[in-house]
Amino acid sequence: MDTKKNNGQESIRLKKPQGGMGVENAPEFSDWVEQVRNQNTAYTLETGKTRKFKIDVFGCQMNERDAETIAGMLTDMGFEEVPKDKPADIIVFVTCCVRENAEERIYGHIGGLTEECRENGSIIVACGCMMQQSHVVEKIKKSYHNVKIVFGTHNIHTFPELLYRYMTSKKRVFEIWEKEAGVIEELPVKRADKHKAWVNIILGCNNFCSYCIVPYVRGRERSRDFNDVLAEIKALAKDGCKEVTLLGQNVNSYGNDLGEKELFAKLLYAIEDIDGIERVRFMTSHPKDLSDSLIEAMKTCKKVCNHLHLPFQSGSTRILEKMNRKYTKEHYLELVSKIRRAVPDIALTTDIIVGFPGETEEDFEDTLDVVRKVGFEAAYMFIYSPRKGTPAAKLEQDIPSEVISARFKRLADLQTRIATELAKKYEGKTVEVLVDGPSKNNPEMLSGRTRSNRLVNFKADNVEKGDTVYVDIIRAGAFWLEGRGGKKLG
Ligand code: 5AD
Ligand code: SF4
Repeated sequence: MDTKKNNGQESIRLKKPQGGMGVENAPEFSDWVEQVRNQNTAYTLETGKTRKFKIDVFGCQMNERDAETIAGMLTDMGFEEVPKDKPADIIVFVTCCVRENAEERIYGHIGGLTEECRENGSIIVACGCMMQQSHVVEKIKKSYHNVKIVFGTHNIHTFPELLYRYMTSKKRVFEIWEKEAGVIEELPVKRADKHKAWVNIILGCNNFCSYCIVPYVRGRERSRDFNDVLAEIKALAKDGCKEVTLLGQNVNSYGNDLGEKELFAKLLYAIEDIDGIERVRFMTSHPKDLSDSLIEAMKTCKKVCNHLHLPFQSGSTRILEKMNRKYTKEHYLELVSKIRRAVPDIALTTDIIVGFPGETEEDFEDTLDVVRKVGFEAAYMFIYSPRKGTPAAKLEQDIPSEVISARFKRLADLQTRIATELAKKYEGKTVEVLVDGPSKNNPEMLSGRTRSNRLVNFKADNVEKGDTVYVDIIRAGAFWLEGRGGKKLG
């Protein structure tokens, strides 16, 4: 494997070098983009055709945002994006390794493209978290020959160079950096939506929860510069963006590595003053870092939505300790009370892991107890999946799989019951919805989200994607609300 190290922790500006900070890559990025674009222009002149790309994203919102960067780079290089069901010259997989089933699905998808690659001469690019693991790269090298270019999470900005190398040599290119680069600024971006946007604020994770692979594949925490984040949001607002979601594995740590405490709360106050932005969301928060100043900011800032995603993972203090989560069941419940006192209509959502090694019936009852006591509007529930290289992977799994499946079902049934009950409070109410476009399941309906992040499907005339409207809720279920009307705001 071709491995490069980069120990810079500064912001690296690819297009506009400033003050000589970490700019050794600066002239190269745009050169590579141009070189590939020239290749594509020559191809178009010769054939009358434009080369196409499509991207398949797995995993979390950070990956969704990375996919937008890759789409931006490919567009700048002269490729044209096509829908998933159309043939493409380049098929990019942005991969996830947080659980084994994600990895298996990705291998399945890549393997399933053999025919398409043969028929159309398509090449596959694999990048993202899974590629930071050497055993995965070896497997791809050996068994997935249609994958021609591989890079990891730390060197996404080298993609144009790698692509150029492949296009000119037709030799497979594998380049994965072991260590994180600083924060790479000013990469191109082709956003999926105009009315809402993902904005990275902190990369990596320092928490090392014992089950989690993320710190090993995304590196240590690196906060983006405060002014860079604000400048990006101001530019988005100018371009018609109404909602931003601030992203990080642990947004509450924002600024810690810059030697600034409470910078996340400061950021929320600063965004409050940006005209055009109506809604601010953020994820994910770690219960151990959710500070009083942040709760105060959530209470004060009108644009911050009344939704908080606060994973608790397990309700058992004993298991939480084994997970290295650094809080207890009681601490979590107190935190929930504190947030509810500050923001009474807050909608809470969470992540829960079932079947962590050593989880007893009593431990699991504690998880159910937290679910009952808190009343989450939604919960993402996962069966524990051992990840190679994590401390928990060394623990013996002593729980029979039938017991884990039965627990998972009990938890899921309880959560669905609770989410359905909580949804009833929306019936007969009028809610503010930011419209995302036609509903995925029923194109005759529109779809959007309440400020509390509930999905709403509704019928309305003269309403389009990006509008903020009032919708009357007529029916409410666990997973979505049905409404009608759509009076525009203002
Ligand atoms: N097994 C199961 N679930 C996991 N998660 C992270 N690592 C694992 C694992 N090894 C879940 C956690 C986290 C979410 C993103 O994925 O609940 O919050
Ligand atoms: Fe993984 Fe824990 Fe970091 Fe979240 S906080 S990414 S669960 S190590």
